[in-house]
Amino acid sequence: MEIPPAVRARGITKTFGEVLALDGVDLDVAGGQVHGLVGPNGAGKTTLLGLLLGLAVADSGTLEILGSPVGRTPAVPDGVAGFVDGPGLYPSLTARQNLAALASLRRHAAESTVDVGEALEQVGLTDVADDRVRGFSLGMRQRLGLAAALLTRPRLLVLDEPANGLDPAGKRHVHRVITALAAQGTAVFLSSHRMDDLAALCSEVTILATGRAVFTGPVSKLAAEGGDLDYRLVTTDPEAARRLAGETPGLGVVPGPDGRRAEAEVVVHGPAAALDELVVRLVGAGVALRELGPVVPPLEAAFLALTETGAKQPADLSALSEKAGQEESR
Ligand SMILES: Nc1ncnc2c1ncn2[C@@H]1O[C@H](COP(=O)(O)OP(=O)(O)O)[C@@H](O)[C@H]1O
Ligand SMILES: [Mg+2]
Repeated sequence: MEIPPAVRARGITKTFGEVLALDGVDLDVAGGQVHGLVGPNGAGKTTLLGLLLGLAVADSGTLEILGSPVGRTPAVPDGVAGFVDGPGLYPSLTARQNLAALASLRRHAAESTVDVGEALEQVGLTDVADDRVRGFSLGMRQRLGLAAALLTRPRLLVLDEPANGLDPAGKRHVHRVITALAAQGTAVFLSSHRMDDLAALCSEVTILATGRAVFTGPVSKLAAEGGDLDYRLVTTDPEAARRLAGETPGLGVVPGPDGRRAEAEVVVHGPAAALDELVVRLVGAGVALRELGPVVPPLEAAFLALTETGAKQPADLSALSEKAGQEESR
């Protein structure tokens, strides 16, 4: 029997008054896959995840979750757990009491549950299990929210910006939990406004930009979408490197990322094949290469190219900074 996809969405549209938050979104999340949803603030990530959690219904389009069509009344679909906009917790209860309360509700609903202590252990909150949630940091609340979602052994876990507020140790716990869940066949769909948060964790990503899915597919394919990149070279002879780069077909010498041209380094722009040619020429001319790498990592470059179309054109800068201002205030 074929395993149904965890999520199958076609033409999902959602408006809030005048705002078109989701604009014809198509999406497939396979079972047992960690799928990332990335986009700038206001792109529609929380809105989309909210639909999957049954917090709202789409205006139009079709949505199937774990093989079942989603109805017209908001309800949490079977087998799904997660949260948007931070988990709902009782501040005056301890971490353990919060989970115990949820577990007893679910036992009442006859769902199979994971042991509370085990869930706390998995997210690394054992040491603070008996502290009141009131004093928890954002990162600790996020991890407790994840523990709460684990209680039901979900087949689809939906997490909205789970990396927010996490310190490196917290991030490691969350990564470990997500990877282990996926290995057991749970699909995880998680959002972030930062590409680098997702790159390490996800096999597939969907990029949202103002309500539209501008890319969906394997992370490896996304890296190729960014087109030509800027590369930074540190050599034993920057003057010669600059000259050789200028002579290499397909390559251009560009100012560094901050517009300043650091003395020891050269920044070039072009396809990878032209860069290969430059390296061969450098070595041939007796110039040694000490460092070479993209100025912006390929995934980040692809994300920026897909979500900030026209950002490099000076005419659009005023519109862009206006938009950035609006996003700040959200
Ligand atoms: N409940 C709501 N009422 C009105 N507008 C909303 C509501 N929720 C979201 N929006 C708007 O929909 C758009 C998408 O928001 P959201 O899904 O929260 O984006 P993201 O999570 O990617 O930052 C934004 O323009 C936001 O202001
Ligand atoms: Mg959001």
